[in-house]
Amino acid sequence: MTTASAASPSIPAAATHGERLRKSPGVCAAVDAMVGELRAASARITDVRPADPALKVSYDALMKRAADVRGRGLLYPYIGSGLGNGALVELADGSVKWDMINGIGVHFFGHSDPDLAALGIMSGLDDTLKHGNLQTNFEAVEFSETLLAEAKKNSRLKYAYLSTSGAMANENAIKVCYQKHAPASRVIAFRDCFMGRSVTMCQIGDTADYRQGVPLSTLVDYMPFWDEAAAERMGKARYIDMALQHLEMLLDRYPGQHACFIFELVQGEGGFNPGDRDYFKTLMELCKARRVAVWDDEIQSFGRTNRMFAYEMFNLGEYVDVFCVGKMTQTCATLFTEEYNPKPGLLSGTFTGEGVSFRMGKRIIERLRDGNYYDNERGDAGLFARHHAEFRRHMQAMIAKHPEWFPKVMDRAGNEHPHFGGVGGMMKFTPFAGKKDKVNAACKACFEHGVVLFSCGHGPYHVRMLPALPVLRLEDWARVFACIEKGLAATAT
Ligand SMILES: Cc1ncc(COP(=O)(O)O)c(C=O)c1O
Repeated sequence: MTTASAASPSIPAAATHGERLRKSPGVCAAVDAMVGELRAASARITDVRPADPALKVSYDALMKRAADVRGRGLLYPYIGSGLGNGALVELADGSVKWDMINGIGVHFFGHSDPDLAALGIMSGLDDTLKHGNLQTNFEAVEFSETLLAEAKKNSRLKYAYLSTSGAMANENAIKVCYQKHAPASRVIAFRDCFMGRSVTMCQIGDTADYRQGVPLSTLVDYMPFWDEAAAERMGKARYIDMALQHLEMLLDRYPGQHACFIFELVQGEGGFNPGDRDYFKTLMELCKARRVAVWDDEIQSFGRTNRMFAYEMFNLGEYVDVFCVGKMTQTCATLFTEEYNPKPGLLSGTFTGEGVSFRMGKRIIERLRDGNYYDNERGDAGLFARHHAEFRRHMQAMIAKHPEWFPKVMDRAGNEHPHFGGVGGMMKFTPFAGKKDKVNAACKACFEHGVVLFSCGHGPYHVRMLPALPVLRLEDWARVFACIEKGLAATAT
C-alpha cells in the first residue's frame, strides 16, 4: 500500500465526492510524490550540526521579530526550519539538534515522520481547516472512537469531549465534576501539580509565579504528593495512613463541599515525580466513599509511561471518573464515565480542532497501540522501558565520570534526592545540586551543544526530557549524552 492510500479512509461502495477525491489515483500519487521528497530531504539530516554562519544575521533578525511580537524573547533561540529526521531537528539557522523535549512532549514520533506527513498533506484537501461542535467532519468522531477503545480496556470511561488545549480539556473536566456534585465548590489537588494556564487552572496549579495578580476565585485544598524518601523514613503504611488522615481532615472540615480530587499520577511540571499505587488507591477509595470525583490529568504523561495510560501502569482504572489527555494526541480530550455525562449546554465551543489534528491523533494512538512499546501483561519490558534503562545507564556513567557536577541534592524536607529518575519517556536528572540558576544555565548550554532539554520541579530543579521514543534508537543515547556532557562541562566552568 502506498503512503497516500494508507492515509485515506477505505472507500465504501456508495462514496461521496469527498471520499472519491481523497481516494483518487491523482491525489494518492501527488501525496506519495510529496512524501517521497520529504523522505529524501529528511534523510540528509543525520547528525548534530552547528549553525551556518551565513544564516546567522537572518536568524538573529527572526529572533528579534519573535521577541518584538511577544514582548519578550523566546526562552531558547529556537525557530525550526520545518524539517527534521526523527529525533533530530533542523533550526532556521541551519543548526541540527537532538530534540529531547519535543514541544514539551507533543512530537512523540519526532520530526518529519512520513506517515504523519501524508495525513497532513491529505488534510490540506479538507473543505475547511477547523471543525467545531456545531459542524464537523467525521475524523473528530474517529479520533474519539480510537481513544475511547483504548481507554475502555481498563477503565469505565465512556465518552470523550474534544478541545484545543490541555487547559481547556481541564476546564471541561472541572465543570463536569462541579455539575455532578453541585453545589460542591471546592477541589483537592496535590502539592506541586500543574493544570494549565487558564484563570481557574493557574489557581489550582501549585506555582505561585504562574498566578501573580490573578484574583483567587477557586477554592483549592492541597494534599502532599507521594514522597518516596519520606515513606521510606517513616514506613510506608504509616506514611499512607497520615495522608489518609489529612484527606479525612479536609473532607470533614468542609462536609460535602468537595467536587473532585485531581490526580496527576506522574507529575510533569512539578518535577517528574512518579507516584505510588498504594498511596493513590487509598486516597481514591476515600474519594469514592465520600462522593468526590476522581479526576486523572494525564495530559503530560499519557502514552509515555510503561503502559499507554498511567492509570493502567498503576492499575487504578476502575476508580477514574474523569480523565484528560492532550499534547502527543494532537487533539485534547476530556473523557468521563456514564455517571458523569453532563447535561446539554455545559460543554461546547466553536472549535474542536482540525481534520489534520484528528487524523494524526488517531494514527498516533493506533501506532502506540500496535507497536511493541509498552510492558506486556507478563511484565516483559517494552521499548519505552528499555529506553528508560538506557537513559539510566548513561546517567550512571556520567555521574561516575564527573562526580563534581553531581553534588548531593537535598529536597525541601531535607531528604536526599536521587540524581536521576522518572518513568518511561519521562526522564529527569539533577546536576549542580538542583539549583535553579545552574539547572537553567545547563539547559541553555546543552542547547548550544546540540541537545534541546527543559527544566522542571520547584526546588530542587531538574533537567527533563520528553524524547521521541518511538523514533529514537537505543544506540542514539550515547550521541545525545556526548552533547549533554559538553553542555554540563560548559556550565560547570
Ligand atoms: C499535567 C498537565 N495538565 C495540563 C496542562 C496544560 O496543557 P496545555 O498547555 O495544552 O494547555 C499541562 C501542560 O504542560 C500539563 O502538563
